[in-house]
Amino acid sequence: MVRIHDALDTATSASDSASDPAQRDEAIDEAAFDQHLDEIPQELNEPADAGPSERAVSVDVDRRDAVNQQPDLKLVVISNRVAPFDPNKPQTGGLAAALEPVVQRSGAVWIGSSENRGDGSEHPLPLVKTGAGEVARLELPAKDYPGYYRGFSNSTLWPALHSLPDQMSGSEEDYQSYRNINDFIARAAFDVRDRDAFWVHDYHLLPLGAALHDLGIERPTGFFLHTPWPAPDMIERVPNHRELMKSMLEYDLLGFQTNRDLNNFVAGLRAVFGLESKDDVVTTERGQTRLQKFPIGIDPKQFAEYLAADLAPAEHEKVSSLLRNFEGAKFAIGVDRLDYTKGIDKRVEGFNQLLRNEPHSISLLQIAPSSRADVEEYQKYKDVVENAINRVNNKHGTDEWRPIHYTNDSFSQAALARLYRAAKIGVVTPLRDGMNLVAKEYVAAQDPQDPGVLVLSKFAGAAEDFNENEALLVDPNHPEEIAAAISKAANMPLEERVARWRSMMDKIESFTIHDWSADNIRELDKSRLIIPADECLRFGLGWTNEAQMPLYRRHAEALAAYNDIDPADTALKEAAFEDEKRAYEALQAPLIHTQDRLWDLPADTAPIGGRPEQDPGAAEY
Ligand code: F6P
Repeated sequence: MVRIHDALDTATSASDSASDPAQRDEAIDEAAFDQHLDEIPQELNEPADAGPSERAVSVDVDRRDAVNQQPDLKLVVISNRVAPFDPNKPQTGGLAAALEPVVQRSGAVWIGSSENRGDGSEHPLPLVKTGAGEVARLELPAKDYPGYYRGFSNSTLWPALHSLPDQMSGSEEDYQSYRNINDFIARAAFDVRDRDAFWVHDYHLLPLGAALHDLGIERPTGFFLHTPWPAPDMIERVPNHRELMKSMLEYDLLGFQTNRDLNNFVAGLRAVFGLESKDDVVTTERGQTRLQKFPIGIDPKQFAEYLAADLAPAEHEKVSSLLRNFEGAKFAIGVDRLDYTKGIDKRVEGFNQLLRNEPHSISLLQIAPSSRADVEEYQKYKDVVENAINRVNNKHGTDEWRPIHYTNDSFSQAALARLYRAAKIGVVTPLRDGMNLVAKEYVAAQDPQDPGVLVLSKFAGAAEDFNENEALLVDPNHPEEIAAAISKAANMPLEERVARWRSMMDKIESFTIHDWSADNIRELDKSRLIIPADECLRFGLGWTNEAQMPLYRRHAEALAAYNDIDPADTALKEAAFEDEKRAYEALQAPLIHTQDRLWDLPADTAPIGGRPEQDPGAAEY
């Protein structure tokens, strides 16, 4: 298997030998490239009216069936957590809820972690049919799992990504476990190496694209980050951040929730590597990585259906008994994993201040399912939240009235939809959040004739979608702002509530979860075949990349210039030859790289026993 770095060496030595005039003919015989270029249809040679992206799509769509016999993109989706695929079980987190319909409808294979641990031995992918797709839950090795999940993912990366350095901890062993688990998942994915593209999710799997490449898997790879990406000074606190960010550049496409995250990543590349991006494309020796914002959404129609559907009797009783606490009175709702990034303690303090100023005015239903309970910081945070709630209830409550009702129970989406609908205020005040779909779900569940009001942290990704004329935006670190916003929401006239709600709802409807996944997949598809395979066969090429098109053009121009010069003009001809040679080297290197993509890899190309030696300069503990 030829990797890009080897390919660059090969290209260099090939062109060194070609600089011998005796071998020049052979090199110039690559005029076949020129002929090849002439044969590429006009829309590929000329920018025409369409931008590069539009052009790529139209060529791909037109030619997919005719030339390459490519069916729709056969995806491999990889994430740590996979959805339960059981409507009676609650979903944990936005990622699972977002990907479940994608897999069930598109026929993707979804690889993730099982609840059981294994001994590290490798087995064929345990694929189980679900809808049109399949899911494989891997028993991740028990030896490395704690360092991977509790350690590097959730004690080092998670707080750093949320710009909370005081919560960071970890060790070099955790990082090694994190790498080991990524390598393990990549080896499992080797079984589906001949599918069209890999779509990897979230901070647990930053180096997975590189691990796939290390195994010789060269299909297009995309990554989507569900969390924020922080400013450079924060990411620089993550041990091995250079190695991690370098490995992220092995993906063809990197997706972020917001412009802020994307801009922070670009600034990080500049700060850490001195690397500049152009039009959100980063070029490295590996190739090109496109950076793009894809703000995740929800399915508002499905939310409407949830409101109409019957709940299972037990859940119906749970919801009814919760709502009996508020009969006749206005209440606010907060729904968050019990996570210190969610700012629940500050929210409770906001209620404390509100009730001091306006006694007995409004109560809060706080739903906080337990999360990552084996991570120490989460255990401490549970105590912080519960002590704060007890203090407020003792101070402001009476025998008949409790200000804050709190539960660690999880609820199905259908049950949550009913609770959101009943609450006059949705309080979503994370200190930082990738998007926070609760904000969108709260809006989607409202009664259009009498909607509630959203109080939203300005540091949630959703605040890039909803402006201050829509939600009441607050700084989640300032309880007095939260208190003022809740008071304002509780007293807001109907007309203003309807206007704010309508505007948010229009946005939710105009970019749903289905648009989000379609956009991601369409962009990923652009990393696929652009040059028709039948025109490449004489070069032994097939899969190539949109990003390589300028290299074809550059070489064609250099070759044309060489051909135009009179052989009698030796010096000029020599200079033109040198230029053509450089253009050819640039063209040849990624072509050698991408020809791996054309053919199915024989099974025995999977290396046994982990990664090659690490770059010693990259370790930073
Ligand atoms: O990006 C954050 C995320 O992956 C969410 O999609 C989800 O809300 C949460 O974390 C799930 O965390 P865990 O799998 O550790 O419970």
